[in-house]
Formats: sequence, C-alpha cells, structure tokens
Amino acid sequence: MEYTTTDLAHIPVLAEEVLDYLQPQPGHVVLDCTVGNGGHAVKILEKMKPGGFLIGIDKDEEILQVARQTLSQTTGNFKLYHADYAEVENVLNLTGVEKVNGVLLDLGASSVQFDQAERGFSFAKEGPLDMRMDRSAPGTARDMIQRLSERELEEVLKKYGEERWSKRIARAIQREEKQAGITSTRQLASIIERVVPRGKSKIHPATRVFQALRIVVNRELDSLEIFLEKIHNYMRTGARIVIISFHSLEDRMVKQKFRESANLQIFKILTKKPVTPGEAERESNVRCRSAKLRAAERI
Ligand SMILES: C[S@@+](CC[C@H](N)C(=O)[O-])C[C@H]1O[C@@H](n2cnc3c(N)ncnc32)[C@H](O)[C@@H]1O
Repeated sequence: MEYTTTDLAHIPVLAEEVLDYLQPQPGHVVLDCTVGNGGHAVKILEKMKPGGFLIGIDKDEEILQVARQTLSQTTGNFKLYHADYAEVENVLNLTGVEKVNGVLLDLGASSVQFDQAERGFSFAKEGPLDMRMDRSAPGTARDMIQRLSERELEEVLKKYGEERWSKRIARAIQREEKQAGITSTRQLASIIERVVPRGKSKIHPATRVFQALRIVVNRELDSLEIFLEKIHNYMRTGARIVIISFHSLEDRMVKQKFRESANLQIFKILTKKPVTPGEAERESNVRCRSAKLRAAERI
C-alpha cells in the first residue's frame, strides 16, 4: 500500500505547546519516539537548525515513509528507525548518541493510520479487523476477539475503553463471532450500534470499543510503562520531556511517574496540571479533544 503526503490534512496536536515545553535549540539532539506523520518532528527540526539532529522512532514501518517525506521538506538532519519506543536504548546505540536534549511522546494512533481503511483502526471505514501498528507483529484485533472469552472481553472494554455497556457489547460480539465470525470493522461497529442505547452523546457508540481493542492489540500501556522507567537515563541535565496522552490510564501513568521522579530529584515537573488544547484547536480538530500534555525537565 502506498501512503502519500497529499492526503495529509494532519496537523500535529498541541504543536505550539510542544515547542514551548521542549525548547529545541540549534545544535540539540531530540528524540521523537512516536514520529508518526512527522508533523511535530518537522517543526522541531526547524528550530534546531543549524546543527540539530532529530531521531525519529515509530513501530509502524509504513508510516515512516510518510515521516520521511514530511521531513525531507526541511534541510534538517534526521534519522528514522522502525522500533518500539520501549526499546529506546537500542535505537540510541545505533545512532551513537548517549543522551539527548529533548524527548517527545505523542501517544495513540496517527490520523494517517485512522484514514487508511485497510489498517482497520476506524469504525467509519470498511476494513479488516487488524489494528496492528506494527504489521510484522502477530495478533490482530480479530485474533483477539477469537481468543478472549466473553468475560475477558468485557474486562478489556471496561478497563481500556471505559465502556459502560461493556457487558452487553461483549455478549453481542461473542454471540456473532460464534454464529458468523466477525471479520470487518463495519461489521463490528454495527453490532455495537445495535446493542448500545442511543443517548445524547455525540461520539459514535463504537469509539470506546475500538480504542480498547487498539490499546490491547498494540500493548500500548506496556510500552509506556517500560519507557517511563528508564527514559531519564538517556536525558542530559536540563533536557525536556513532553508527553501527550489521549487516555486517562496513560495520563495517570505519566503523572505518577513524573511525581515519583520529582521526589527522587530526577525530574522537575513543568506542568502542574496537564495542558489541554484551546478552544480553536478543539473546534478544528476533533481528534485532539482528549489530549493532555505533561512536561518535565531532567535535573
Ligand atoms: C499520534 S501519532 C504521532 C503523530 C506525530 N506526533 C505527528 O506529528 O505526526 C502516534 C504514532 O506513534 C506510533 N506508536 C505508537 N506506539 C508506539 C510504540 N510503542 N513505539 C513506537 N511507535 C509507536 C504510532 O504508530 C503512530 O504513528
């Protein structure tokens, strides 16, 4: 499948705030652990000229092509790596860099991934039930539905989707899976639409279920936990870390780790409360509404 930059109406979330907290300077080395479409990275690179170096990581090999195209529009120096950011030390070894001046983590899936029906991230587009960011890894969303019991699925939807109708959705999914097999995104979305009462909510009833499945398929919280334990070892004194999360479980993990690290004199917290998008950004970009940014400085 070919990705092109022509369909990139993909504006990075909290772009100004990321630059304000990260403070990239000429000559800096910055690690963008979720480089995605390269939206933040291109802005960071511009600020680091001359002499800066951006290391971009993404576990989605196909999206790295998009990042490469985006970053090639600048004359900045960068290298991109297909890896899980939980293995950040391996990437740094490859670059020969020991410590960096800045770290960015913009969690979740990217707009390019949502927009590609064949990746299976979107309930609005007919596609296979895949949802893997790294397509070389085993275990699609379909595999997960087949593997989990009704009770386990209910727990997943409750924990990772904060889905109040988890019990009835899990039951309906497992019933249909046994009768006909669920193979596509729209098929799954329509099962959810049938069993969830229509309330006043403007969000689609399948939103939380798709989020929960995606988080588990990609072990998103495991990567974050491993990363938070060690990233300070790769930051110079005065280096900044900025993390944007979209889920309360992620935000809680970041908040707790920053607090712990502040008590141990590892980090100084720069954001007492999480920074959220302003009215204008919320209006123009639906996906950014739940974004929360936290930042800290290495002591
Ligand atoms: C919200 S997007 C980032 C968008 C990017 N900041 C931009 O401006 O274009 C998140 C990206 O992180 C990647 N990702 C998620 N979890 C990852 C992990 N554990 N390791 C590496 N990349 C990951 C996804 O594949 C996705 O491309």
